[in-house]
Amino acid sequence: MNNSTSSSTSSLSLDQMQQLTELLVETPSLESIEAEVQRRKYNLLETYYQETGKLSRHAYPKHCAFFKAGAVHRERCMMAANRVGKTDAACFETTAHLTGAYPVWWEGKKFLHPIDSWLAGDTGTTVRDILQKKLFGEYHDVGTGFIPGSKITKTTNKSGVREAIDTAVIRHETNGRFDGYSTVVLKSYDQGRKSFQGGKPHIILLDEEPAIDIYTECLLRTMTNNGLIIMTFTPLMGMTELIYTYLDPTKELV
Ligand SMILES: Nc1ncnc2c1ncn2[C@@H]1O[C@H](COP(=O)(O)OP(=O)(O)OP(=O)(O)O)[C@@H](O)[C@H]1O
Ligand SMILES: [Mg+2]
Repeated sequence: MNNSTSSSTSSLSLDQMQQLTELLVETPSLESIEAEVQRRKYNLLETYYQETGKLSRHAYPKHCAFFKAGAVHRERCMMAANRVGKTDAACFETTAHLTGAYPVWWEGKKFLHPIDSWLAGDTGTTVRDILQKKLFGEYHDVGTGFIPGSKITKTTNKSGVREAIDTAVIRHETNGRFDGYSTVVLKSYDQGRKSFQGGKPHIILLDEEPAIDIYTECLLRTMTNNGLIIMTFTPLMGMTELIYTYLDPTKELV
């Protein structure tokens, strides 16, 4: 056995020997491939808005303009067609604020401290199936969404909605240094305006258009901390009062 191995390798030229050595050095082991698959599973964020590739951020100029506008506008709305990546964009930005891990190319608003956030949508069930899933991943495998698994310190469950997260605590770093914890509260419009009273979040993500009374309440809530409202929806209800206030900046709600 040893003899046959040595006779087959000894028949290789120096060049071939060099190539074989390079291949052996470069070929990753099965363990390292498995470790990388696991790492990527809990770091979905790094696959979005990259510099190169078919889905690079350069293919999403409007999404990038939306991010950039956050540096100067407290209220932003991405009103667009279905399935164009509205919710993903809002979840990507929210994750950056929650963790403090802004991409190097980020030109939007930056918070240099942990933040409090509210994430809201139509009902407890849709918030679970859309926002919760995008940000936290599978309920039984938390960390497989936008927020990297290593950053999710704690989650609590919502009562009344099966497998729904109510609150979460996220590890925050500013310029790479740990400086505390951000918080997430998941809410829904069907809880009514009163459930949006109190608190002073730095960010409110509204996925789908809320009733105007809820929007106004959110606007008041974010005033204390000069917070952001990030709203994403397809205008299925036609020209509502809320849409008019966005299209006509002279119209103010509060
Ligand atoms: N920047 C992106 N890079 C790669 N894939 C993306 C990106 N944005 C969106 N996608 C893909 O497009 C799908 C739709 O995105 P998303 O759910 O954000 O769209 P939407 O506009 O909110 O849709 P809806 O109208 O249903 O609310 C996602 O599941 C994802 O697979
Ligand atoms: Mg959506």
